[in-house]
Amino acid sequence: MNLFIPLIILGVLLLITGILILLDQLLGSNKEKVLTINNDTKIKINQTDTLLNTLAKEEIFIPSACGGKATCGLCKCKVTSGAGDTLPTEEPFLSEAEKEAGVRLSCQVKVRDDMHIELPLDQLNAQEYKAEVTEIKDLTYDIVLLRVNLIEPDTMDFKPGQYAQIEVPGLEVIRAYSIASNPKHKDMLEFIIRYVPKGKATTYIHKAVMVGDTISLTGPYGDFYLQEDSDKEMICIAGGSGKAPIRSILSYLKDRGMPRKVTYFFGARSKKDLYYTEEFRELEKEFDNFKYVPALSDPDPDDNWDGETGLITEVVDRMTGDLSDKEAYLCGSPGMIDACNKVLEDHNLPDEQCFYDKFS
Ligand SMILES: Cc1cc2nc3c(=O)[nH]c(=O)nc-3n(C[C@H](O)[C@H](O)[C@H](O)COP(=O)(O)OP(=O)(O)OC[C@H]3O[C@@H](n4cnc5c(N)ncnc54)[C@H](O)[C@@H]3O)c2cc1C
Ligand code: FES
Repeated sequence: MNLFIPLIILGVLLLITGILILLDQLLGSNKEKVLTINNDTKIKINQTDTLLNTLAKEEIFIPSACGGKATCGLCKCKVTSGAGDTLPTEEPFLSEAEKEAGVRLSCQVKVRDDMHIELPLDQLNAQEYKAEVTEIKDLTYDIVLLRVNLIEPDTMDFKPGQYAQIEVPGLEVIRAYSIASNPKHKDMLEFIIRYVPKGKATTYIHKAVMVGDTISLTGPYGDFYLQEDSDKEMICIAGGSGKAPIRSILSYLKDRGMPRKVTYFFGARSKKDLYYTEEFRELEKEFDNFKYVPALSDPDPDDNWDGETGLITEVVDRMTGDLSDKEAYLCGSPGMIDACNKVLEDHNLPDEQCFYDKFS
């Protein structure tokens, strides 16, 4: 009798477990789903995972600088059916117009049912790369140039202004870095990286990476790039490592004989924060329609600075006229971009002529 009761309980438990597994297979995570991309590509999926991870397994890479923690807002993707309601974690990153259009954070959405998504063709170009570090050079006390040669695949086609994501080995950390080199060098990429105290990726890049190391990266990403079909006069504004994508854009324009008039404002605190000054001074000498305006907000007395002073917003404000017919390219911290956008708006720059990447 004593032995009989535990056996019955065990039997009931096994039966319940069996029913749950069966239900899960019929209704839940392991049932086959179809993910349709741009109404043509259909992918069969048997596991339930986030849309971001599901796409990565298919080698379709969506930008994801925070690794899926819903803090970067870069992994946006238009889902036309099968995603359910927007989650509270997505709310801070989506405008009303985006929500209405079905835009979601792909790291928060799970593929539980058949799903239809739309991806820009550009996004389908992003790939995973292995690259060899060929140079790490100090540009200032807290900014380095990182140069890599692509190994596998050995070339990347990118637009001037776009970025790649570098992986930190062992930490499952990936971070976005704008490509600072000329897109004509398809087998070599340069990055300009500012050290963030206690920052995971920048500590790795500034203090651990060595020439000869192999690193992993994905790309290219981003909708911040030179509008090639426009001939509008350009105003570029950058601070700190925000110089990276602007340098790529300017080297691209230089190769084409600087076909557009460009004024480039670069904001720094004091002279020790300036770098590549000679490179842009040379560009000024070569092209009458290019002007470089470095400005210091807090020059040291020893700097003997006779250039522009003040916050970059103040300098842009006093040196800029009406912008209704011009294009602006901005890169730097979110605070700097927001402040610049206000100034540019005051100078009548239309929204659709303003392009920026916030280094958040
Ligand atoms: C599209 C895009 C392009 C970018 N391009 C570049 C680039 O070309 N060069 C470059 O240097 N960076 C660039 N960044 C920023 C970069 O992706 C990282 O966020 C930055 O390097 C910090 O990474 P981390 O892992 O070292 O710091 P984390 O470990 O992520 O952060 C450590 C701590 O520092 C704070 N923190 C993070 N970033 C900053 C910051 N910039 N200033 C002050 N505090 C910070 C965090 O809130 C956290 O408390 C870009 C970002 C985006 C979204
Ligand atoms: S990956 Fe950063 S918010 Fe989704």
